[in-house]
Amino acid sequence: MISGHVQGQLLSTISHMLKPERILEIGTFTGYASLCLASGLPSKGKLITIEVKPELAAISQKYFDRSAHKENIHALIGDAKTIIPELDESFDLVFIDANKKENDIIYELVLPKIKSGGFILVDNVLWSGKVVDQIKDHDTRAIDTFNKKLKDDSRIECMILPLRDGLTLARKL
Ligand SMILES: C[S@@+](CC[C@H](N)C(=O)[O-])C[C@H]1O[C@@H](n2cnc3c(N)ncnc32)[C@H](O)[C@@H]1O
Repeated sequence: MISGHVQGQLLSTISHMLKPERILEIGTFTGYASLCLASGLPSKGKLITIEVKPELAAISQKYFDRSAHKENIHALIGDAKTIIPELDESFDLVFIDANKKENDIIYELVLPKIKSGGFILVDNVLWSGKVVDQIKDHDTRAIDTFNKKLKDDSRIECMILPLRDGLTLARKL
């Protein structure tokens, strides 16, 4: 579930490069990627992370409270599909890493809230390489369909970084 160390380092590097004022993460889990992303925030920056399972949000909050970025991290508990439309923010960087079958729904909800020139990251887009299998299971088909949609989406420019389980890096035009 968790972003490994190499991907964590990449998320941290991207965040330091962009110095985003506003970051949104969908799928907190234990908060590792949240902390990597938060490391590049300017002092008044803000990272909102959404987790549907309260028991996981309790774990991540313990780590956030211990971190140097605790004032900058706002952890929300609930279904991202309900929470995102209620967010009155626009984001410089969004990391989609929740239920892979819902990538497309989440993407369509967040895209209007991303600034022009802002970035979207999507995790696990290679799905252990299964996206190139001839016969795909339901999850793999959903990921493959989403990847192909992004490739042809004129609202963004995107590429897949073949790092770990595949990370899409897209820029909103
Ligand atoms: C792959 S883990 C996230 C890992 C984390 N981003 C990291 O790299 O450290 C996915 C998380 O998304 C959560 N999740 C799944 N569907 C969700 C939804 N609709 N809204 C919010 N969180 C969701 C799961 O409970 C799980 O904790």
